[in-house]
Amino acid sequence: MSSVLTVWGSPSAVSRTGIVAAHMSDRLEAAGHQVDRLAVRDLPAQALLHADFADPAIRAALDRVEKADALVVASPVYKAAYSGILKAFLDVLPQFALRGKAVLPVLTGGTPAHVLALDYALRPVLTSLGATHVSQGWFVHDQYIHPADGDGPDRVDPQGTAFLDELVDAFADGLDGARGIPA
Ligand SMILES: Cc1cc2nc3c(=O)[nH]c(=O)nc-3n(C[C@H](O)[C@H](O)[C@H](O)COP(=O)(O)O)c2cc1C
Repeated sequence: MSSVLTVWGSPSAVSRTGIVAAHMSDRLEAAGHQVDRLAVRDLPAQALLHADFADPAIRAALDRVEKADALVVASPVYKAAYSGILKAFLDVLPQFALRGKAVLPVLTGGTPAHVLALDYALRPVLTSLGATHVSQGWFVHDQYIHPADGDGPDRVDPQGTAFLDELVDAFADGLDGARGIPA
């Protein structure tokens, strides 16, 4: 069993990215891993934007990153890149915070025109943070993500997440229980 931290960076209270992140987290837990879940929007905004490392909530969040063997990093596409709130969080991490860790990136978005933001925007920053392995990621289109309403709870359409599920399962299988590096 490995410990996985799922981090998602959306400013929205009702977050499609959060729904996908929860779906992935549930799947990783079902595969036997221990999953910790961190919504960046729950961190104190001023402390985050001022990079206040003395703030207890910021310190606790950095600690959760350090303790994780592996991470899922999720963001909505905003303006053809990942979100500013996720960047604010990545910016307070130590330079090589992801060294020795495997990372599975995922984006949600409204247009397939920005599918490649995963590889030209998010992947390079994860690599620069020292991630030992950044897995193949996935982009989930909004049309497959349904926030809770009168018809039921949050859900994702299997047709929109089938390949993502395969990637999550492969990621789960590859975690070796030591530092999350795929075998
Ligand atoms: C400010 C803003 C900018 C956005 N820019 C893009 C974009 O450039 N490309 C895209 O595909 N979707 C874009 N979207 C749509 C979001 O990526 C999409 O709705 C996403 O699922 C929202 O996730 P969230 O509910 O977790 O915030 C944008 C949405 C907002 C609010």
